[in-house]
Amino acid sequence: MKLSSFGKKLTSGSGIVGLMEDLGSALNENPEMIFMGGGNPARIPEMEAVFNNQYKKLSADPEQLYSTTGVYQSPQGELGFRRDIAVMLKNQFGWQVSEANIAISNGSQSAFYILFNLLAGQMPDGTFKSIHLPLTPEYIGYNDLGLSEKFFTGSKPDIELIGDHQFKYHVNFDELSVGEDTAAFCVSRPTNPTANVLTDNEISHLDQIAQQADIPLIIDGAYGVPFPNINFVDAAPHWNSNTILVLSLSKLGLPGVRTGIVVASKEIIQAFSSANTVINLASGNIGPSLTRELFASGKIVELSKKYVQPFYQQRSQQVMALFKQTMSDIPCRIHLSEGAIFLWLWFEGLPITSEELYQRLKQRGVLVVSGHHFFAGIDHQWPHQHECIRVSYVQNLNAIEQGVKIIAEEANIAYQQG
Ligand SMILES: Cc1ncc(COP(=O)(O)O)c(C=O)c1O
Repeated sequence: MKLSSFGKKLTSGSGIVGLMEDLGSALNENPEMIFMGGGNPARIPEMEAVFNNQYKKLSADPEQLYSTTGVYQSPQGELGFRRDIAVMLKNQFGWQVSEANIAISNGSQSAFYILFNLLAGQMPDGTFKSIHLPLTPEYIGYNDLGLSEKFFTGSKPDIELIGDHQFKYHVNFDELSVGEDTAAFCVSRPTNPTANVLTDNEISHLDQIAQQADIPLIIDGAYGVPFPNINFVDAAPHWNSNTILVLSLSKLGLPGVRTGIVVASKEIIQAFSSANTVINLASGNIGPSLTRELFASGKIVELSKKYVQPFYQQRSQQVMALFKQTMSDIPCRIHLSEGAIFLWLWFEGLPITSEELYQRLKQRGVLVVSGHHFFAGIDHQWPHQHECIRVSYVQNLNAIEQGVKIIAEEANIAYQQG
């Protein structure tokens, strides 16, 4: 088989491909593996009950079932669903949005593919623009989305050391410059992989720089406000017409329905819808049908606060405590757990790379993700890139406890060998 450059790019074993393979095989084929790798959300019984109830209602109503499965909705997404989302955002946050500011995608991952390539890459005058990540480490899933080379640039963060065992990243505004070749800023908030939440000040500063440079600020809200609200610190939701906010139903517990929601200016939404038509014809209807009532009543925000956020916050505290007990003798710092569904561990001066540590842990039946995948746009000379791992804490707590012990053992062995 002869692959095109596009084919080669998408099949060359990128981080996200390996990660999803690990996820698929651990969750479906090797359930004995201790799975602390990919970003599958947890099973939260109360949320499952809500969705099951919606599903029953849907399947009992032939007309609704037909409009869900028997018709292509508009490429921008079903009008009523977009209206309900817009009303909810307007009522709850005062954002000046209507259905014309909302588009539905097949998962937020595919929304990023379209948005990034709409804005960056080769421009009509032959020059190239890139997406700038103001604070890397950033989401592994962005890495290979760009259709041209050097698609991302990234800024290293400031690192605040907190006590002996914790730290927090901050945007380094002194180093953040916007060039002619910057197409947009993109940040995930809360951040995958680090559990960082950019402060309101950081967001308004980024917004100000983006507006001055006339480039959009893309905020990836897969874990954030207003839903699923996996946010353990105060963080105001942010949107204005220069912001592209990308939301998802996945981390509410619905990764299988593949529904993303883009909130942006009308111009961006129109461009997005045209591209979505070419690539997908239309987006899937099941996510919108299952959740429409929850948006119309505003319950989606309430449920996130009542069930989703507390589940992850409690779990994060439990697993953080386990790591603190087990790793007190190891030079390991954990990023403050401010949101999302991961802990980010930094093994300072680790004598082996984080990739090697990942391999050794996999041999021992524990799946994590090596941190080096999360530094798109950064040169490869920074040791920190090879000293971190991301662990997810959503699976069964007994298994996680086992996993924490094995991670501590392997890190200890690595330091001793070094
Ligand atoms: C930060 C972030 N953005 C986007 C996505 C894509 O999610 P989905 O395509 O399921 O909406 C993920 C998935 O894990 C994520 O962690």
